[in-house]
Amino acid sequence: MPIVAPSLLSANFLNLQQDCEMLNESRADWFHLDVMDGRFVPNISFGFPIIEHVRKATKKICDVHLMIEEPEKYAEAFKKAGADILTVHYEACPHLHRNLQQIKSLGMRAGVALNPHTPVNFLSDILGDIDLVCLMSVNPGFGGQQFIPHTIDKIRALRHMIKDRNLPTLIEIDGGITLQNAAAIVHAGADVLVAGNTVFKSDDPVKTIEALKAL
Ligand code: DX5
Ligand code: ZN
Repeated sequence: MPIVAPSLLSANFLNLQQDCEMLNESRADWFHLDVMDGRFVPNISFGFPIIEHVRKATKKICDVHLMIEEPEKYAEAFKKAGADILTVHYEACPHLHRNLQQIKSLGMRAGVALNPHTPVNFLSDILGDIDLVCLMSVNPGFGGQQFIPHTIDKIRALRHMIKDRNLPTLIEIDGGITLQNAAAIVHAGADVLVAGNTVFKSDDPVKTIEALKAL
């Protein structure tokens, strides 16, 4: 059964409490929180105040996806705001090993996200230090984009690397997940499904989460 992590980027920001309560009562496992800086990605989303409020509104795991440059400057503040998992981008981290050690020393699980063009084998020498690999199945920056089919090959290849070394690393897929393509994604080896529009723009978000869990 996959871990389901609805992305609050597609939630109603004028009524976030209601959406948090809906997720609390649903079978969603994690809250996925997308932070964008307008530099690493061509969009700006939200930061600490929203995460702090979401943290107070749920006991579920807060999975914070940083699409920002120099994440090391803010890791401690994200911990304070309530992050349980902190994911940084491979492409934004020339000192990735140091970044991961910092995140773990602050008491969070450490994730690494890969843009669609970044090969999974670039993680070969650091996989043992990563709690979660987030494979971007769209170009990061916006919700509601189309799933890039090549991601399926990347999931399979990464699953192989993780299995080969008997690691507990989780594979998370982020972007363009629908009720139509989710089964193939899980079948290829994904552990965590992030879903924004598919959950929040559906007529019945609780049922949609249920359907993703049932895969
Ligand atoms: C994109 C974000 C995603 C996004 C997913 O940059 O990282 O988490 O919110 O949204 P959907 O599921 O609508 O593609
Ligand atoms: Zn995300």
